Amino acid sequence: MIDIQRLSWICCVYVLLISVTMLTSSRAVAYRVGVGRADCTGPPVEITFMGYAQLSQRGYGIHLRQFSRAFIFDDGVKRAVFVSVDAGMMAHAVKRDVVAVLQRKYGDLYSVDNVVLSGSHTHSTAGGFLMYLLYDMTSLGFVAETFNSLVRGIAQSIIRAHNNMVEADVYLAEIDVLDASINRSPSAYDNNPAEERAQYTENVDKKLVQLRVVDKRNAVIGAINWFAVHPTSMNNTNRYVSSDNVGYASVLLEQDQNKGSLIGKGDFVGVFASSNLGDVSPNIMGPRCERTGLPCDLLTSSCPSGAGACFASGPGKDMYDSTKIIATRLYTAASQLLNQGGGRRLTGPVNFIHQYVDMPRAEASYRNPITRESQTVRGCLPAMGYSFAAGTTDGPGAFDFTQGTVTDNALWNIVRDFIAEPTADDIECQAPKPILLATGRATFPYDWQPKIVPTQILTIGNLAIAAVPGEFTTMSGRRVRSAISQASVSAGGPELQVVIAGLSNMYTSYVATPEEYEIQRYEGASTMFGPHTLTIYLQQYGKLMRAMVNNESLDAGPSPPHLDDKQISLTTGVIFDGHPIGREFGTVRVQPLNSYERGDTVFATFIAGNPRNNLMHDRTFFNVEQKQPDGSWTVVATDANWETKFKWERQSTILGLSDIEFAWEIGRDVVSGTYRIRHFGYYRFILGGVFPYTGSTRTFIVE
Ligand SMILES: *[C@@H]1O[C@H](CO)[C@@H](O)[C@H](O)[C@H]1NC(C)=O
Ligand SMILES: *[C@@H]1O[C@H](CO)[C@@H](O)[C@H](O)[C@H]1NC(C)=O
Repeated sequence: MIDIQRLSWICCVYVLLISVTMLTSSRAVAYRVGVGRADCTGPPVEITFMGYAQLSQRGYGIHLRQFSRAFIFDDGVKRAVFVSVDAGMMAHAVKRDVVAVLQRKYGDLYSVDNVVLSGSHTHSTAGGFLMYLLYDMTSLGFVAETFNSLVRGIAQSIIRAHNNMVEADVYLAEIDVLDASINRSPSAYDNNPAEERAQYTENVDKKLVQLRVVDKRNAVIGAINWFAVHPTSMNNTNRYVSSDNVGYASVLLEQDQNKGSLIGKGDFVGVFASSNLGDVSPNIMGPRCERTGLPCDLLTSSCPSGAGACFASGPGKDMYDSTKIIATRLYTAASQLLNQGGGRRLTGPVNFIHQYVDMPRAEASYRNPITRESQTVRGCLPAMGYSFAAGTTDGPGAFDFTQGTVTDNALWNIVRDFIAEPTADDIECQAPKPILLATGRATFPYDWQPKIVPTQILTIGNLAIAAVPGEFTTMSGRRVRSAISQASVSAGGPELQVVIAGLSNMYTSYVATPEEYEIQRYEGASTMFGPHTLTIYLQQYGKLMRAMVNNESLDAGPSPPHLDDKQISLTTGVIFDGHPIGREFGTVRVQPLNSYERGDTVFATFIAGNPRNNLMHDRTFFNVEQKQPDGSWTVVATDANWETKFKWERQSTILGLSDIEFAWEIGRDVVSGTYRIRHFGYYRFILGGVFPYTGSTRTFIVE
């Protein structure tokens, strides 16, 4: 006889089991994740850095190398790639060429649509890779060496990640970092509606959001940390290549996880990626007048006459110290999250969406938050305002412009009109911005600023990564995040946590809110498509998210122009290198002392070739080596270490003579022993060709 009651119990348990299995299987996606890193250091000497627009800020050596760090996420159906690059920003042509490299190798597995390249925004690396005139002006046009280093290094990091795919779990966690950032345009921020500001305790985002990748052996193989801060701890007087505060935070995190590895080596990849950092400064002692030490004027960031320039600094005693302190604060917070091992596990599918937008032709509907009236607003042709030329408190401009300028000047307008004259419609469209450069009308010798921009979102489960093509201010970023999460929910999709991936794919300067725009600080003056730049982006990112939830495919949008064949390049290549008679390349001109103590700095000077002859990617120009008991030598530091720096100097242009001075600050953890410094380089022979050379100091003792 059948026991009905027992059978129904069994059935019940069975059904329950099936539904639990179904639930988990329909929810939990098994990810495969790959991480990879590659050196993408640009020419370290003779090329102007990108960021402060300071012609005199030409590189003369390396403090910290540039790396590209790639993460590939695959759910078995779709694949998405996020890359953070130690560079001023990303450029359209760089991404285009990286995708081309990947497509030659892997077909259509990778495309413009599923790859995000985000620039860290360091201001201390070589420029000349953007292909739009305004952005390549200070580097005297296009610099192929910078461009090629980026394309090669970024592609290499993705290829390494591709070859490293493993089953992994992905977690999301967050922590506040209270003492690493301040708002550098508080007067603009304060013009945002009071009720909106009341939703936040701070005028910058203090949250560090961490994505952690854990493999099946429970080893953490990578982490992406998004934190909004300008990498401008190194100021506009710095001439060493540096990845600045966020780059050094990556180095610290990687050194901690990859114990015993040299910098840029080791399996764990750790990123501190840029976010909505538009108005966020790391110089937390705030702006002061250079000569008096008194605070600057709040609205204009200017100083009384005779008081010098207004710039911000701190928290350290000099820019190196400040970089180290901010980096250490970021690293410590990220490391704490990694070690806690908590957070929310991501479980949903991987997805992506991308569309180009012609900003000057775009329209959006705008509801005024005060009057609550709705109207249709439009994008403007690119233009930069007077306050753009004032620079910021992280790096003031060269001329006597001040921030917060809403009136123009007849003489500058004549200069402006000589370059490109704005129409009455441009002036009205951009108001209240007084136009200093009508970049949208300047096409000689080629486009000055972009008009067609990429917009893109990646999702990994409930995390959405909004790749934005510029520097969104704190409040702009918050509005984009909420527009995307609202769009998802209203389209019937999941509740999302959204992060802003700043300076992604293309560079289009700043994006301030319409209210901040009215104040015309540097960020507002550099919001190039007019007061409703953000309004258009809010609509666009909402549209992307809705389309993604509804499985709609969007048209690709118009293509950005191909500007490669129009590029002007006034940078000269290395002509030749020479050495004094009887003293070959690599000869040590100044030897180290016989012995040192910890805390001392070792100096050595070599007869050298131009470092631009070979950028030594994934290698080094210098090793600090320690002698082992068996007579062999172990490398303890390279040119990528914080403790080392090298400075190249042309001694004679006519004879092509140059020197490199290498410096090694002996850290507290360096063990006593016998050491030497080796130099590796290439020289350009006067009759053509580039040839390697090496050199070594005599040995010295660390006591
Ligand atoms: C840059 O930092 C150095 C200290 O490292 C300081 O002497 C100099 O005044 C700073 N300059 C600017 C413009 O911030
Ligand atoms: C979109 O596609 C996914 C996976 O194919 C499916 O689960 C979902 O129901 C679709 N959504 C809509 C709105 O069609």
